[in-house]
Amino acid sequence: MILKNLKLKNFRNHRSASFGLFSTTIIIGPNTAGKTNILEAINILSRGKSFRAEHDKDTICEGAEFTRIEAEIDYENEKIKLAVIFSNTNNYLSKKFLVNNVPKRLSDFASKFTSVLFTPHDIEIIATSPSLRRRYIDSILYQSDKKYRIAFSLYEKALKRRNRMLYDMREGKKQYKRADFEYFEKILIEQGSILTSKREEFVDFVNERNKEIFDFVLFYDKSEMSEARLFKYHFEEQAAGITLVGPQRDDFIFYFPKTKKVIREFGSRGEERLTIFQLKVLEVNYLLRATGHIPVLLLDDIFSELDDTNIHKVFDLLPDQQTILTTTHREFIPKKILNREEVSIIEL
Ligand SMILES: Nc1ncnc2c1ncn2[C@@H]1O[C@H](COP(=O)(O)OP(=O)(O)OP(=O)(O)O)[C@@H](O)[C@H]1O
Ligand SMILES: [Mg+2]
Repeated sequence: MILKNLKLKNFRNHRSASFGLFSTTIIIGPNTAGKTNILEAINILSRGKSFRAEHDKDTICEGAEFTRIEAEIDYENEKIKLAVIFSNTNNYLSKKFLVNNVPKRLSDFASKFTSVLFTPHDIEIIATSPSLRRRYIDSILYQSDKKYRIAFSLYEKALKRRNRMLYDMREGKKQYKRADFEYFEKILIEQGSILTSKREEFVDFVNERNKEIFDFVLFYDKSEMSEARLFKYHFEEQAAGITLVGPQRDDFIFYFPKTKKVIREFGSRGEERLTIFQLKVLEVNYLLRATGHIPVLLLDDIFSELDDTNIHKVFDLLPDQQTILTTTHREFIPKKILNREEVSIIEL
């Protein structure tokens, strides 16, 4: 799978831009030139939303009403055109996903094109909040599994409704019957169990694989959504006015295998960084196994994060795949990469 070209219209600081992409593409430019923005746009083609925008509308160029990302993807025996359009009218964001100009639901669009992104901020996956770790795991499963995408969106909608009901009851705004709750709880239990089992499957995959860069264990601290647990937390939920059990409360903890100590608490920054790189290598392999295609690798500014030995380790471990890298200085790029067979350089 190769991303042949990319066209951006009103995407962040790129008002109108078009890029041809080779099997190795290096984007060079000073700070704020728009390098990360290009990788962000490519990554949106994989999962329909931005990895870094709080709201997807933030990706629309200041002053514009819409943004469009278009790309051509070459498979071994097929070519497809993908497009994502975000439009913001009257503060309402609409999203369109097109495959060969035909509109698709996001659940049918995502995973046509898969990508794995490394950014210097990824270290926060380990160090900060559970929500970031859930978002990270979701971003993988969202690309790899249609059943997950569907379950995710049904679960999210039902959760919102149930939370609203709990809140209204607590505030004395409205009363609901048990049957009203049951309707949404049935959805939450059914779809929640799909989310839990797919997350579990990913964690098992990570734990079973060899880790050549850095050894760690991933523990799935799951919050199951079940009738029994909803019953158990009934009074707490009424008092809190929010749903307290379910995958929206899951966490994932990285451990050192020998000492069983938590990497977030005991690891050095270098160890956290290596854990993330190892995880990303496993992510590439997971997506390959799930979709049959090697994902495109998007490496944002990694030369500032890793030393030479580890850069080589990462490159040696990854399957032969299209790689799009960014850097501020040409000198940072290892010779081994510059001397690859098909290299294109985009200067911003
Ligand atoms: N919606 C938007 N409209 C216009 N410009 C935007 C928008 N969102 C972000 N920008 C601008 O895009 C510019 C480029 O951002 P980007 O993060 O891609 O830079 P970069 O080349 O990766 O820089 P660095 O080397 O510092 O990481 C920034 O100056 C930012 O303010
Ligand atoms: Mg950047």
